[in-house]
Amino acid sequence: MPVNELTPGTKPTDTTGHDWCESIDERCDQIATLILSHTGLAPDGGTCYQHGTKEMDDLCTAHLSCDATSYMCRAEKPFLTPNTEIDEWKLGESGQYHDVPAFMEVADTVIHSFMPNATPESGPVEIMYFASGNHIAPLELGAKILNSTEHKQVNFTYTEIDQEYYKEIYTELSMLEQQGKILDLKQRKGFSTPTHSESIVEFKIRTDSGEIKTMQITFVLGKVIDGEYPPYFRPSDYDKADIVIGFDAESVDATVGHLNEARAYSKGDDQGKIFIMENRDDYVEWAKGNSEYVVDNFSQHFGCETIKKDEGLNLRPIVFKLK
Ligand SMILES: C[S@@+](CC[C@H](N)C(=O)[O-])C[C@H]1O[C@@H](n2cnc3c(N)ncnc32)[C@H](O)[C@@H]1O
Repeated sequence: MPVNELTPGTKPTDTTGHDWCESIDERCDQIATLILSHTGLAPDGGTCYQHGTKEMDDLCTAHLSCDATSYMCRAEKPFLTPNTEIDEWKLGESGQYHDVPAFMEVADTVIHSFMPNATPESGPVEIMYFASGNHIAPLELGAKILNSTEHKQVNFTYTEIDQEYYKEIYTELSMLEQQGKILDLKQRKGFSTPTHSESIVEFKIRTDSGEIKTMQITFVLGKVIDGEYPPYFRPSDYDKADIVIGFDAESVDATVGHLNEARAYSKGDDQGKIFIMENRDDYVEWAKGNSEYVVDNFSQHFGCETIKKDEGLNLRPIVFKLK
């Protein structure tokens, strides 16, 4: 497939009604400079919230929000965010909308550089997000696929071990439905086995051209049996996915192990599968060993990356396709 690599950050700034964009850019730069000058405050931190001091946490929170707002000045509006001011969205590291800007930017690259065009025979686009928590932001990728391609349906598989997150996702989607951002929200039970149970949510979105399209989320709950955690995903979840999202699963080693097992199990049938992961050494190594190229030139980051820049960890997304 031809690769037309996008150059992030080159969209013209849409300043219509956004006089504040330029001053926000300046504020972001000032905060980033301050963070860099304080790097010693977070000696072994990967992310601000887990390891930072209060001072660093505050700076990083300010930077995340500032940077996200700045990106929003340039990008099209997201579909699946509340009808409130950006400052009120849960964009912080533990919020359900964390890293919406990064997922918007990644979506452009995935759609224009990685995905085959839809044909009349195309079924739903299948996206697996393992160890999903209650994270809503990746759904933006699905919404953008529906809005800018001929695909009629996107199915997400979210995997978790905590059912509470399903409830939080459903509650948030209900709120989006009340605000008219999504339509026709429904839920039902899926299959249940001794090791896993499924809850399914379906809703519609209205695209910019007025078409009504469908999004479905199957929330797969893995059961912890005798203290034994299930793998992050079932072989069947991996096999059916066109796109795999891995973001802040608890163990990098376990993730690489599960991916290797899944690759071996699929016996090469996973060729062409698209991955969106974090720019961590282990994942980049895995990507380079299993794909032809890795796109890693995104302007938006996953989490507060600035504090670790001096150690080469930038926590930006990577996107690659299995060969
Ligand atoms: C650090 S959180 C990240 C959540 C989400 N990816 C995000 O970025 O917001 C890690 C998540 O992994 C989930 N998890 C841990 N072990 C798991 C397993 N074996 N299968 C599925 N999910 C698991 C936890 O319940 C938790 O929600």
